[in-house]
Amino acid sequence: MRVCAAADMPPGTAKRFDVDGARIAVVRIGDDFYAIGDRCSHADVSLAEGDVLADSRELECWKHGSAFSLETGEPSCLPAIKKVPVYRVEVRDGDVHVEEER
Ligand code: FES
Repeated sequence: MRVCAAADMPPGTAKRFDVDGARIAVVRIGDDFYAIGDRCSHADVSLAEGDVLADSRELECWKHGSAFSLETGEPSCLPAIKKVPVYRVEVRDGDVHVEEER
């Protein structure tokens, strides 16, 4: 499903989208796009409001600092211990599409 134009997301940013009832955080690092579940697995906090960690390819929850891998959805530090879903992302004709959960 198309979520936005690639040009609408500057590198180093994250944005929340609602796709078929699922809350998804889309992240851009350079020209790479990622999509993970937007809801922190520790509490109901939007991960898209956190910091994009470009070097480690993670999204950091602003509330207590757990950082989630954009590739696997696994948190690399406490307090979160459960992974968040990871979605397939494709850029086609300048638009970002989020596909099913991997
Ligand atoms: S709410 Fe995200 S780490 Fe606590």
